[in-house]
Amino acid sequence: MEAIKIQDLRKSFVSDFMVRRTKVLNGLSLNVNQGEIYGFLGQNGAGKTTTIKCLLGLIKPDSGKMFLLDEISYTIKGRKNVGFLPEHPYFYDYLTIEELLLFSSSLFGIKKSIARARIKDLIAKVGMQGKEKLKLRKLSKGMIQRIGLAQALINDPEVLILDEPFSGLDPIGRKEVRDVILSLKDEGKTVFFSSHILQDMEMIVDRVGILLDGVIIKEGQLDDMISSQSDIYETVFTGVEEDILKSNKYKFSKRNEKYIIKSTSNEKVNELIEFLIMNRGKISSINQMGQTLEDVFLKEIKK
Ligand SMILES: Nc1ncnc2c1ncn2[C@@H]1O[C@H](COP(=O)(O)OP(=O)(O)O)[C@@H](O)[C@H]1O
Ligand SMILES: [Mg+2]
Repeated sequence: MEAIKIQDLRKSFVSDFMVRRTKVLNGLSLNVNQGEIYGFLGQNGAGKTTTIKCLLGLIKPDSGKMFLLDEISYTIKGRKNVGFLPEHPYFYDYLTIEELLLFSSSLFGIKKSIARARIKDLIAKVGMQGKEKLKLRKLSKGMIQRIGLAQALINDPEVLILDEPFSGLDPIGRKEVRDVILSLKDEGKTVFFSSHILQDMEMIVDRVGILLDGVIIKEGQLDDMISSQSDIYETVFTGVEEDILKSNKYKFSKRNEKYIIKSTSNEKVNELIEFLIMNRGKISSINQMGQTLEDVFLKEIKK
């Protein structure tokens, strides 16, 4: 059973005073396995939020089938096991963190005594201990995001849907959110999150779906997408005169007083090593350049 299944989702919006329809989703399909972290990657305006809104029944798609743990996603049964962090969480400024979470748990019919214990755990989980009595208007963007996560977790859902959970966060905030997501996976939960930021995905996702022109143009195990190492090797060295490099037709760049030569095959690296040894060069490192998710994404966009 998949945690999330979307089949042939289509959605257009009426724009320009009802004159035109803009097609946003053009038959999007994706599958999220249980227990995995799935990164939903796409540029700004690609339709990530629209997809999530359709999935949760917040807006009505033109067509398509959507399931959460095999239940139709937008029914009460379907949504029962889901936690959701919206793109721009908005909370009542004058509530305290504790009041907000108590209010949220009451919406799920959770008893107050149980809710209090759970809220304590959740506040610890998102690293906000001791801040329970702070009013929400006093919180930074990063703190709001963490409280949003705590709120999404209040009903102990199986599946978490997070829309741009890293947006507007500083490096420490990003790390904290990453850690929360990883700990959710450790608990066996499924996490589906959208982002236009590749770096955040690379560190934590199991699989990625790339959204472009309203469809998933590539979906797969992150390892498969990026492990395909490129054929480019980077050799860093010192101790050889620039003139000698030039007269031997080596193209090089410099970084921190060191020379860098990129070779496009194994054989060329071997040749370079021989040359450097002959000329008393000192090799600092030789690295096979990995293909990053960014490379994959840019390649797909250019196709
Ligand atoms: N309610 C709406 N009415 C008209 N156009 C919309 C509406 N919501 C989203 N759009 C348009 O749909 C496209 C996708 O938006 P969105 O799903 O928010 O993208 P993303 O979340 O990937 O940045 C954008 O061009 C946006 O302007
Ligand atoms: Mg969005």
